[in-house]
Amino acid sequence: MVGIGPRRRPSRKGSMADVPKDLLQQIKELEDLFTVDTVKLKQIVDHFVKELEKGLSVEGGNIPMNVTWVMGFPTGHEQGTFLALDMGGTNLRVCEIVLTEEKGEFDITQSKYRMPEELKTGTSEELWEYLADCLQQFIEYHHDGEKLHTLPLGFTFSYPATQHYIDHGILQRWTKGFDIDGVEGKDVVPLFEEVLKKRGLPIKVAALINDTTGTLIASSYTDPEMKIGCIFGTGVNAAYMENVGSVPKIAHMNLPPDMPVAINCEYGAFDNEHVVLPRTQYDIIIDRDSPRPGQQAFEKMTAGLYLGEIFRLVLIDLIDNKPGLIFENQDTSKLRKPYSLDASFLAAIEEDPFENLQETEELFERELGIKATKGELELCRRLAELIGTRAARLSACGVAAICKKKNIESCHVGADGSVFTKYPHFKARGAQALREILDWKPDEKDKVIITAAEDGSGVGAALIAALTLDRVKAGNLAGIRDAGDMKTLL
Ligand code: GLC
Repeated sequence: MVGIGPRRRPSRKGSMADVPKDLLQQIKELEDLFTVDTVKLKQIVDHFVKELEKGLSVEGGNIPMNVTWVMGFPTGHEQGTFLALDMGGTNLRVCEIVLTEEKGEFDITQSKYRMPEELKTGTSEELWEYLADCLQQFIEYHHDGEKLHTLPLGFTFSYPATQHYIDHGILQRWTKGFDIDGVEGKDVVPLFEEVLKKRGLPIKVAALINDTTGTLIASSYTDPEMKIGCIFGTGVNAAYMENVGSVPKIAHMNLPPDMPVAINCEYGAFDNEHVVLPRTQYDIIIDRDSPRPGQQAFEKMTAGLYLGEIFRLVLIDLIDNKPGLIFENQDTSKLRKPYSLDASFLAAIEEDPFENLQETEELFERELGIKATKGELELCRRLAELIGTRAARLSACGVAAICKKKNIESCHVGADGSVFTKYPHFKARGAQALREILDWKPDEKDKVIITAAEDGSGVGAALIAALTLDRVKAGNLAGIRDAGDMKTLL
């Protein structure tokens, strides 16, 4: 698309000059509603730290703090051939990873499949059959006619699961808009393995993995300063390494207190009690109309799945409740469809390089059939900035809380997910919030640095499967259920 307006200047103050007064007033109100200042950020982090602790305790709390049975970081000497299956929110990916003899090296072959939208609200059988279809296709394509030994699979299943063992996981609840009957409360591994067996596929689930844990392990493989793995995508969450002695809820297992164990925080569920997050009326509607009201309060304000919807709800509110303020005499029927705008719509607005917001104007016309005035475009631009900035600043609170809880002064944080990789200014806004929360001096460099992660659900999943098999070999069987079956994979 070729624009004709002049390029935007760094400061956009001047461009508000010809915005009508009532729209300026409205912009001001939105700024007040969506801005999260330093004081509030610090309050959120203080509460967050307490909730992380609570999740590790016997009583539990809002944040599940799931024990993953990943007992330590890779050394770089892990070896073998592994399959990885990543059931993300949007895509499905199958990989074959060979961890080679050379330290820290690997080869990867992969295929991507679309996750059909209707599967998210379909039946449990349809889900497992579809996952098995993808694995089967992959194997038939890459190993046609070969006689295969059973391959260990690292299954990245990025939903909250209670794991008594690494090769086991009871789905606590669906998140990210999934709503498939008959899976919550069940161990997903046997459900899936049954379908694999029925098809005679030579595959054994060696580890059930969360995307954050995979990200943590894959990133630490190449960077020893990596302490936290994060996802800022369709959902938000983080994993980090804890000492068994700091996890009271597994004290009964009498493991050595200094033994490391990765914790999948599932902190999208932070503040489900609504004590500290600055929720707006729009956040309340998102929650009310979601398949799981009362769940994932933090995620619903920060994750990619919801950013476009928050934006849409604000616009609909202004159209309906402030007659004549915006989009007067326009057909707004397309805008009225829930979840019709995703985070990429906001990203495109924030990326519009033109002073006259020409690309935003074209976007509204093309996607929504709305012809917006200059003032309306300015309001939309500011609103996108406010929602994107709020998400980035709140997201930083989760990272800061883990650092505070673990007394980490400086470290690297491996991050992945569509919002982190694609949303404009997300990284810089998050880094600024960390600076405010953690009180770094103006002349001090960033000490906690959030950087792009290695491929967690591919390499990370393979590494975790390899670490598990190495433990089977060494007879270190804490948190492994099918050690007998796994021996046949060695
Ligand atoms: C949701 C899931 C969590 C996952 C995150 C990022 O919060 O519950 O398991 O890590 O999304 O994908």
